[in-house]
Amino acid sequence: MCDKTKERSNKNKMDELRKSLCNELRNLRAWLEVLQYTRIDFLPLSSQSSNTANTAFKKQHMTKSEKLKLLYEKYKDCRACRLGHSRLNFVFGAGSPNTKLMFIGEAPGYEEDHQGVPFVGRAGKLLTEVLSEVKIPREKVYITNVVKCHPMIDPGNPEKTGNDRQPTAEEINKCLPILVEQIKIIRPVVVCTLGTVATYTLLKNMQYSLSLAELRGKKYVVEIGDEKFQVVPTYHPAAVLRNMSLKTYMFRDLKFILTLLK
Ligand code: URA
Repeated sequence: MCDKTKERSNKNKMDELRKSLCNELRNLRAWLEVLQYTRIDFLPLSSQSSNTANTAFKKQHMTKSEKLKLLYEKYKDCRACRLGHSRLNFVFGAGSPNTKLMFIGEAPGYEEDHQGVPFVGRAGKLLTEVLSEVKIPREKVYITNVVKCHPMIDPGNPEKTGNDRQPTAEEINKCLPILVEQIKIIRPVVVCTLGTVATYTLLKNMQYSLSLAELRGKKYVVEIGDEKFQVVPTYHPAAVLRNMSLKTYMFRDLKFILTLLK
């Protein structure tokens, strides 16, 4: 064999060896990433690309509750709109993330702002009452609002009662990505919207010409964050408190929802 041929053959062998070594290293790294999420946390993986892969891998294997916690951490100090500057608490949501049924209200009021939990005021008590009348334990569903901070008439005075107002379209749009993420994580069989704000928001304004009285108690299949969900609107419990004759309809709508959950 001449020198040149020998040199070429050696180079080919070296190339093959390098390729095979690269493959082995790739496999080894994949294994290390897997092992890291089996609670072995002493393995040093520090490169940027492996961190990205780690996050994606970790997210895939997280429980709904862990995913919601991560989402909460991401937004709990949100100041994307002026509500973030006047709120006492960011009211994320409460209940079971493993539920088939999710309720969506409008925005926190005085009590919710003070306690950091949705539907804990008078309207919330009525909601709990109607739920128990149809044998749905409140802790078995997930409850949240379209807007996570208390919209106030006088934002300088969160201690004032009767200081509630509806959220503006801008506030709703700023907050909506959080709700979309919550729905995508929980993946409920039915989303029940409480009142006009939640209903028009979830039905994507396509039903503005219809009143809640016309929309309620029916099932709409709506695309939310690239996935389809069943949405059933009903009255807001605060509206029921103002007009108790609406309670029958709310009761009926919840019974209808139960048929969709079977
Ligand atoms: N009204 C709502 O829409 N949400 C609450 O959390 C409380 C009252």
